[in-house]
Amino acid sequence: MHNIGSYDERIQGFSWEIAERELDYQPGNVINIGWYITDRICQMGKGDKLALIWEGLGGKEKRYTYNDIRQLSNTIGQFLRDLGIQPEQRVCLFLDRIPELYIGFAGIIKTGAIAQPLFSAFGDESLLVRLENAETTAVITQKKHVGKIRKILDKLPHLKHIIIVDDNGKSPLQEREVAFNMEEAARVDQFEIQPTLAESPSVLHYTSGTTGMPKGVKHVHCSLISQYLTTSWVLDLKDDDIYWCTADPGWVTGTSYGIIGAWAMGVTQCVSDVGFSAETWYKFIERHRITVWYSAPTAIRSLMKAGDELVRQFDLSSLRHLASVGEPLNAEAVIWSNKVFGLMFHDSYWQTETGSIMISNYPGMKIKPGSMGKPFPGVTGAVVDPETYEQIQETGKIGLIAFRPGWPAMMRMYWNNEATYKGKFKNGWYIPGDRAYIDQDGYFWFVGRDDDIINTGGHLVSPFEVESALLEHPAVAESAVVAKPDFVNMEVVKAFVCLKPGYVASDELELEIMNFIRKKLSPLAMPQDIEYVPNLPKTRSGKIMRRVLKAKEWGEEIGDTSTLEDD
Ligand code: WT7
Repeated sequence: MHNIGSYDERIQGFSWEIAERELDYQPGNVINIGWYITDRICQMGKGDKLALIWEGLGGKEKRYTYNDIRQLSNTIGQFLRDLGIQPEQRVCLFLDRIPELYIGFAGIIKTGAIAQPLFSAFGDESLLVRLENAETTAVITQKKHVGKIRKILDKLPHLKHIIIVDDNGKSPLQEREVAFNMEEAARVDQFEIQPTLAESPSVLHYTSGTTGMPKGVKHVHCSLISQYLTTSWVLDLKDDDIYWCTADPGWVTGTSYGIIGAWAMGVTQCVSDVGFSAETWYKFIERHRITVWYSAPTAIRSLMKAGDELVRQFDLSSLRHLASVGEPLNAEAVIWSNKVFGLMFHDSYWQTETGSIMISNYPGMKIKPGSMGKPFPGVTGAVVDPETYEQIQETGKIGLIAFRPGWPAMMRMYWNNEATYKGKFKNGWYIPGDRAYIDQDGYFWFVGRDDDIINTGGHLVSPFEVESALLEHPAVAESAVVAKPDFVNMEVVKAFVCLKPGYVASDELELEIMNFIRKKLSPLAMPQDIEYVPNLPKTRSGKIMRRVLKAKEWGEEIGDTSTLEDD
């Protein structure tokens, strides 16, 4: 039987107390996510059970029991406390998917500090704006990434410690740097965990904004209540499952469901730090006998492209439940997965801001391929009119997705950005900024984003950030950045660029500009295509009309540009 039982029965008389009871938590009590995902599982008698199976390049493998991750997170916590890290200070994890990332996350949280995970492929500019905005106190990183931090150190007066987890003593440490080796450090068995409460901050994730700089989404310890119950009811994890979440903890899926959810349930999870190829992924599932797999549409489409024949070369019979998130999961991908794995990917919808799954297809519920499913029990979801923010009752009519605030994992603020945070609430609804419609059976169908943000392979990229970075290239006078269609990534970044006088358009310059953005921002933000143009379409007040360029890319009607020109 599925953990959720019957969806329709679960929505009747739902209360988050169901999760609180399973977590032995009573409102008002201490709640620390770090304790819940390590110590509590050991107290339940699962100390010797595997918590983490990790695989790195060259066939390297490491295994950790729940008792290992309990002690090692204590060890990291103690090290941070000895450095003087205080509760609520921000400690950034700037690491590849190595065990220190997962266990370090728990360690930071045990001290009461706020974990700030950042994608390790970020370039120095991406890193700078996020560390500056958060006034981060310490960064935990690897030697290979420390150069990017050294480059921006002068601009970060709040950054007191750079903790290097793989220092081998060969090159001298520089200003503010300190070495810490998790495996070699004396293990700390007893650690006084900070008695955080429901509203104590836990995690700070950065997400791209439409017009401004990235926003720091603040989460709190009681987010665990939502994360625990959604893991149970959507991902359906059971004690003997071997679970694989393919997301990087630099993004929210990788923390909510790639660290917290599965460990809070005491399940064994696998991590691969090898990178993507269809063959490596299938081998990984086969070798570890993965049973539950949470992934993303871009990966699924890449697997589709690799062909059906390849699937047959592996024994994937261990798989029993598949789920997906991050971008539209097209019906073809669901049908394909049913053909080759005998299982459909269950689409789920949520955001960095929502902290946990909001709309989903549940095990045992009828799947309509292409639909995101229905709101999680306890979540009131609707589609509202974009002008009045009144709920749309009419079936099939497109509007903005809206949720009634109140679920535990909801963000508590945008760091240092109260105005933008407030702007997300309208007429008593939280508005995620996506368009959808609801069909006659209550299923939600995603239509598109309500802004210019590009969703490339499930990662949000702000055109504004890319345009700002492009301006720093000596050849660029101005630019407009939009989404361009792509089979695998759904959308990729495309830049329209006007060159400064004296610069000549060429393929070499295109490569140079692409590389410039990759290094400064990240490989995700790098334009896959640069088109040189003599000028850009603008409104009378000089605002660039990205919409016109985007419509052209997608072969859509441009619509009434006379009104656009009026702003
Ligand atoms: C945005 C949130 C938390 C998941 C990882 C991304 C888009 C998310 C779906 C889906 C269509 C989706 C939305 C959303 N999105 N899930 N199932 N179908 N679009 O978190 O980086 O905060 O992005 O991703 O546009 O607002 P994120």
